[in-house]
Amino acid sequence: MSSGSSPWLASKTLAWRPELVLGFDQMDMQHQHLVACAGELQLLISANGPRQEVAKSIAALIAFSRQHFDWEERLMRANGYGGYTTHKAQHDHLLDQLLQVEHELSAGLVNSCQTLSLFVETWTVQHLLIADRLLADFLKDLA
Ligand SMILES: [Fe+2]
Ligand SMILES: [Fe+2]
Repeated sequence: MSSGSSPWLASKTLAWRPELVLGFDQMDMQHQHLVACAGELQLLISANGPRQEVAKSIAALIAFSRQHFDWEERLMRANGYGGYTTHKAQHDHLLDQLLQVEHELSAGLVNSCQTLSLFVETWTVQHLLIADRLLADFLKDLA
């Protein structure tokens, strides 16, 4: 598959949608920002954007993801959250996926768009809507 404009990639482009709202404002705001960063990178890749811009965009996505995952992990530890180990392992896996995307992009490999789509899918469907929802419900109950 080419890294150029692709209907397959476009159909997977991440956009914020109401079902991603978990009802814990600080978390929702960060998720919304993460969605925006990932969506921007997907668009840049599908539009064959300048390499420097793509590199900047994936670096920003990695930096913000790290910051967001650290924030959630601090909250989990501070509140004795029972699912910490499993949740953190998912964060670590997601970061590995992003580092893989960065590696593929810097190497000019064409499958970077597939790895990014895999991250988007794993992060939203498997992580945000399941693990983060459990965490948000737990934190809301504490309030
Ligand atoms: Fe999380
Ligand atoms: Fe999260």
